[in-house]
Amino acid sequence: MEGRPQHSDATIVGLAVAAIVLVIGAVAFAAYHAGKGNATSAPAAAGAVSTAPPAVPQQVAFGAHAFVQFACAQCHGNRGAGGVSPDVPALQKVAPTLTVSELTSIIEHGAGVSGDPSRPFMPVWHGVISTEQITALVAYMKAGFPQVQYADPQPVPNEQGDATAGAALYERYGCVNCHGPNGLGGVPNPQSPDTTIPPLVGKAFHDEFSDKDIAEIIRSGSVLGTAPIVSMPHWGSILTDRQIAQLVAYISTLS
Ligand code: HEC
Ligand code: HEC
Repeated sequence: MEGRPQHSDATIVGLAVAAIVLVIGAVAFAAYHAGKGNATSAPAAAGAVSTAPPAVPQQVAFGAHAFVQFACAQCHGNRGAGGVSPDVPALQKVAPTLTVSELTSIIEHGAGVSGDPSRPFMPVWHGVISTEQITALVAYMKAGFPQVQYADPQPVPNEQGDATAGAALYERYGCVNCHGPNGLGGVPNPQSPDTTIPPLVGKAFHDEFSDKDIAEIIRSGSVLGTAPIVSMPHWGSILTDRQIAQLVAYISTLS
């Protein structure tokens, strides 16, 4: 019994020392990181906070959103920074060397479809992306790919089943722009033999393509008609096999 108060005192002293050590440690830790941030990466750190980036002209902002909507960002990297596939150029480097009319023409008519099914190619967008959107895309590229608030790709929930992930990928990779919401089709493609981008639903579609065929078309693309023509892009080195399987799972829920 007599030992108890002493024991408590010792405990209190011990706790106080421990608390002081912790406070000193936390202060030193914070000071170290603040110093480090100030020295090397203050602008990056400021950008990571959720404050709005500086305002840009409305047409440039519209172009930034189109760059995400049409999945330019998924092949050419976030804000054209590259790094997705060695076959896809970093537009931040290339765009300053191209004129407005060259950029416009490449978006409208592509850069020559690759005959190699293992290589991605620049899709032909004439008829899918409107003239105003193309003008805005070029304005965004010529403005140097600035950060624009809310111009972020659709996030993909990977823990909620393949069909859910596939539905998000269908938006994120811009499939929806060509095959319509829910794969219902209806986007015209006047130069193609069937004059429309095919739907991904219906008996005819499922009679013609097994899940394995669908995965293969997503991987290797398909050009029906004579290039340049709006065709099925090649996603082989852009999407992983897992992502392709998720897309196939989503498409199989649409029949
Ligand atoms: C499926 C992947 C893919 C998508 C989506 C895509 N591109 Fe490309 N793009 C390419 C590839 C690959 C090239 C390189 C040329 C080639 O091999 O066809 C390219 C080339 C370009 C070039 C010419 C660069 C140079 O080096 O001359 C521009 C400009 C461009 N893309 C802009 C865009 C814009 C804007 C979008 C969105 C509307 C877009 N791309 C969407 C794959 C893609
Ligand atoms: C630039 C427009 C465009 C985009 C973007 C696009 N597709 Fe396609 N897709 C086409 C065209 C055009 C065809 C028909 C090509 C053919 O028949 O040779 C096609 C064909 C297909 C087919 C075979 C169906 C058929 O009847 O031929 C599947 C499956 C498919 N696309 C899935 C996708 C998925 C999944 C995505 C997104 C990762 C996607 N597509 C993105 C244009 C597009």
